[in-house]
Amino acid sequence: MSIKKIGILTAGGDCPGLNAVVRAVCKNALRQGVEVIGFKNGFDGVVRNEFIKITSETVSGILTLGGTILGTSNIANPFKYTLPPFGSAEKPSDLSAVALHNFKENQLDALITIGGDGTLTMSQKFVDLGMPIVAVPKTIDNDLSATDQTFGFDSALNVATEAIDRIHTTAQSHHRVMIIETMGRYAGWIALRSAIAGGGDIVLIPEIPYNDDVIVDYLLKRRSQGKNFSIIVAAEGAKNEKGEQAITRTVAASTDPIRLGGIAYKLSDMIESRTHIESRACVLGHMQRGGTPTAFDRWLSTLYGAKAFDMVMEGKFGYMASFRNFAITEVKIADAISKLKLVDPNGEEVRAALEVGMSFGSAQIG
Ligand code: F6P
Repeated sequence: MSIKKIGILTAGGDCPGLNAVVRAVCKNALRQGVEVIGFKNGFDGVVRNEFIKITSETVSGILTLGGTILGTSNIANPFKYTLPPFGSAEKPSDLSAVALHNFKENQLDALITIGGDGTLTMSQKFVDLGMPIVAVPKTIDNDLSATDQTFGFDSALNVATEAIDRIHTTAQSHHRVMIIETMGRYAGWIALRSAIAGGGDIVLIPEIPYNDDVIVDYLLKRRSQGKNFSIIVAAEGAKNEKGEQAITRTVAASTDPIRLGGIAYKLSDMIESRTHIESRACVLGHMQRGGTPTAFDRWLSTLYGAKAFDMVMEGKFGYMASFRNFAITEVKIADAISKLKLVDPNGEEVRAALEVGMSFGSAQIG
């Protein structure tokens, strides 16, 4: 099959590196005489048939730019469309046929989708309906199976690590317990790696349920040893032994309806009342998703994007570009969405953290 024209979109939560992938795909395509259109705001643009024609000027100077020049959406799901004027939150519509129609109407030979598990799940559904799709894995959470690392993660990790470094000095000055809350959804990768890199004392991750008593004992022990401050890194999705998580809100229309957050404030109250040590919460939030990508993410995104277009030319539809052992390879999209990639409580990263004296706030691990 000869490829003459392709579409590209960025969907789900944004992260640093999206533009670098778009640039690499488009430069590779335009160099080979293939036309590219960029759908606006993820799958929303495919449903509404809103796009921009990409030229070499469009993708010039965007390598280092955060966000996405195409826009994105984590609620535009063509299979359960809720955005007016074509749908409503009360009555979602299946507009996948409209998206397929627009794809054909634009005479596209392929679509490259850049997104996390929600986007990949929608991409697989369209592949099953006959749309030729190649995917690229994105998310700061690093929770996708079938790839060693998603782009965006390294940038978020660096933001979190810098925050821990900065919090250290103020924690020390005021002799406080400082709690830094990271994103990551149901996976503890950002929290664990930044806590290791930044020298956190306690790290709480969703994969290892915590116990308030263990946290309190650990903090009091540090104090009795003359250590007058402590740093806790808490993943937004961390849960206690009763399975309780801090949830800020639910977004019914989203492919991922639960919004996590607030654990840092809960812990801070608990710590002050039980230890009488002053404590403060610092929620990093969307800071972790903004700004320029790190050198590693620019490099990884460029490799992902260049490969994704090569995969289109080779007709590797239904596949995702994947980073394995420092090389870019390809895996079935279906394999990438079969399960979340989580921290292994018995793995070597957890062991290393314990070996340098960190606590997971758990009596079981340690
Ligand atoms: O998946 C990326 C992520 O930033 C998660 O870490 C976080 O839980 C969620 O998205 C936040 O979503 P929103 O941008 O809708 O608040």
